[in-house]
Amino acid sequence: MDTNALFNIGYGLYVLTTRHDGIDNGCIVNTVLQVTSTPLQIVVSVNKGNYTHELIKASGVFNVSMLTTETPMFVFEHFGFQSGRTTNKFATCEAEHRAVNEVLYIPKYTNAYLACHVSQSIDFGTHTMFVAEVLDAQVLSDKPSVTYDYYQRHIKPQPEINYDNAKNGKRCWVCKVCGYVYEGDELPDDFECPLCKHGKEEFEEIIVETHNVASPKNDNNTKIHETQCVAPLQNNYAMKQINLTENIFYVGVNDRRTELFENHMELPNGVSYNSYLIVDEKVALIDPVEAIFIEEYLFKVKNVLQGRKVDYLIINHDEPDHSSSIAAVIREWPEVQVVGNAKTFAPLEAFYGTIENKKVVAEGETLSLGKHILQFFMVPMVHWPESMVTYEQSSKIVFSNDAFGGFGALNGGIFDDQVNLDFYEDDMRRYYANIVGKVAMQALKAIEKLGGLEINMIAPSHGLVWRTNLAWVLGKYTQWSKQESEEGVVVVYGSMHGNTGVMADIVARGAAEAGIKEVKVYDIAKTEVSFIMSDIWKYKGVIIGACAHYGSMFPNMTLLTHEINEFKPKDKVYGLFGGMSWSGGGVKTLAKCAEEGKWNLVAESVEVKGAPIREEDWDKLYNLGKTVADAVKG
Ligand code: FEO
Repeated sequence: MDTNALFNIGYGLYVLTTRHDGIDNGCIVNTVLQVTSTPLQIVVSVNKGNYTHELIKASGVFNVSMLTTETPMFVFEHFGFQSGRTTNKFATCEAEHRAVNEVLYIPKYTNAYLACHVSQSIDFGTHTMFVAEVLDAQVLSDKPSVTYDYYQRHIKPQPEINYDNAKNGKRCWVCKVCGYVYEGDELPDDFECPLCKHGKEEFEEIIVETHNVASPKNDNNTKIHETQCVAPLQNNYAMKQINLTENIFYVGVNDRRTELFENHMELPNGVSYNSYLIVDEKVALIDPVEAIFIEEYLFKVKNVLQGRKVDYLIINHDEPDHSSSIAAVIREWPEVQVVGNAKTFAPLEAFYGTIENKKVVAEGETLSLGKHILQFFMVPMVHWPESMVTYEQSSKIVFSNDAFGGFGALNGGIFDDQVNLDFYEDDMRRYYANIVGKVAMQALKAIEKLGGLEINMIAPSHGLVWRTNLAWVLGKYTQWSKQESEEGVVVVYGSMHGNTGVMADIVARGAAEAGIKEVKVYDIAKTEVSFIMSDIWKYKGVIIGACAHYGSMFPNMTLLTHEINEFKPKDKVYGLFGGMSWSGGGVKTLAKCAEEGKWNLVAESVEVKGAPIREEDWDKLYNLGKTVADAVKG
């Protein structure tokens, strides 16, 4: 039997209060149920060990105060982690709020209370179920009730656990209520947590597993994974906010853990998932973040909102590096309206299920938040068919999602005038070449469309926020979209035993002596393809070499040639070379790729038997580099 199944029962959380002989006390309970309407009766189950149980037995009266999702952790600690036998839980009560039965109810962090009188009690061994008549009932607020599941996910801090002993093979159990860790071969049946006094049933064994950070975060109360050791998030902590304007905030996150973007592009400098919050009469959250950062993200959003809720969630783009936290955002603010265009919701619901509260906006349509007016413009295929940008009219900020984005986590500097752009440009171009480059024409159209707007700031969903060097970033994007190559030659080779690598050096020498200062040589087995594609996008000359491999070419080269023919970079001149081992195949296969991709071959291909140790081979390779270089120079 898996008793975790019981956690799926939809419990709420309540403060159960009572009063006897002048003593007020209360505790947290999760089992309250209305059983009849006429007469109006409820039942509540209380552990016999609780002091509150003892007092209810004696007084026959109690109140149920219904906690909301805004209840801070200290309320649960105050009523749940200490006993009224040793602490007067109402000693610092600022004002007495008593119901008709003279029992205190909790006026703050609650949305209703019930004043009750016990009519019968049923003994269930460890617990007593009190059946009670409801004497009075009052609604206190319109905040949603907290559920046990919500408490586990969003209120209870993740316990800070030292995993070292568990990693070293020791058996350890963690208290799911307070995080206390017990070490020992078995947890005794009568064990009671020394911190919060909960029993063995609230403990689970720590099983340390290392897993891919891209895997979904596990639900609470199952296994605790190593990558889930985030610091506890205190929602009442006032963190310094990052302002784009007085009421527009940056709430994005940095990712330095994911090794491969879209699971195939290396991230040596990380990446950021940017999100923005506009606080007005209505609150809009623009593009959420990758779901593995949901805890940090919600913390940042709540830190700005200080108790307000999100009214609109703007989805400029469906790709999961932004949208994968949408379910968590909807769970957090169930009334939020999800805003997208006519193409947004079919893919989104295919990923995450039905979205009940959605709003479809059209090209140029506006959405008022109060003083801030959002306007939506479609930019299909930058990066997916549903891609759009959101323009905020009063601040003149464009929230451009993937467009104008770049790789690289934000290292303190959020804005373009806070960093060295020369350092950042390579990461931005690599992002462009491998993600937006295939749809360069659509990117150009998007730039032209935005050209009609007055823009003070460009706020993409990856990389820097542009507020000073707008002309620089627009110029770079226009250059890359128009595919205006720079003077330079990329030599990339695949070599099993180094001979084709030696050939590459001779080719590069020919290009350099022809006057090309930017010659980039890459070993395809050592450098991930996205970096090479980035330089191919930048430079006009491309010379590719591959040794033979079973009648075909060095296998790693296949991905690069595929990417070239997929992305079709323009304004290039190509050359080919390679070693033939016993029967050749490298150059022949490259030539086939060149034919399929209509590469502009400007020099005769060079195929060398064995190593380049003969003068005629050396000359042919050198001249290959020189000829391509001459074509680059025009
Ligand atoms: Fe950053 Fe296409 O998602």
